[in-house]
Amino acid sequence: MNSDVQIAGDPLAIPHLLPPVPAHPATVAGFAGLARAIAADRASWAPLVRYDATTRWYHRLRAVPQAPGATSAAPVGYEVWLLSWVPGQGSGRHDHGRSSGVLTVLEGELTEHAADGPRTLTAGAQRVFAPGYVHEVVNDSLKPAVSLHVYFPGLTDMPMHPSQAAAPGVVAAPPEVLAP
Ligand SMILES: [Fe+2]
Repeated sequence: MNSDVQIAGDPLAIPHLLPPVPAHPATVAGFAGLARAIAADRASWAPLVRYDATTRWYHRLRAVPQAPGATSAAPVGYEVWLLSWVPGQGSGRHDHGRSSGVLTVLEGELTEHAADGPRTLTAGAQRVFAPGYVHEVVNDSLKPAVSLHVYFPGLTDMPMHPSQAAAPGVVAAPPEVLAP
């Protein structure tokens, strides 16, 4: 039997056939879809990207306040950030305060270190995280990378955590301290 994809083609491969992304997503899936839509609109971000070997480069693409008349729950306001990573650059271990987020790799390859181990994220990969999620993102590759970060509500705090890899002679923190 033919699937819808066989009959109609894969709608994800044809962005103009996707349903319009709401200006105020109200679900995690909605924010992930927003990130994919921005990622697909390469002209909106590619000319802005800069690489800086001396300090982390980032640029806020959007800051959208909570929808007028919204209750204290969804739809929340959000921010969209563009980040670049030259080889060897990393974020340090951190969480995102009260914000949830969607990380989308736009170009290159990043490695995410979280409580459940390292994972390699190639272009198009997405990670969704809740408030309190602790991770460290590093460009371990030999080429620059670019990523898109949506935070909802907007990022107000990014507490740093001790590195998971303890220096020689230093006792590592017990695993439960590092769990999100
Ligand atoms: Fe993060």
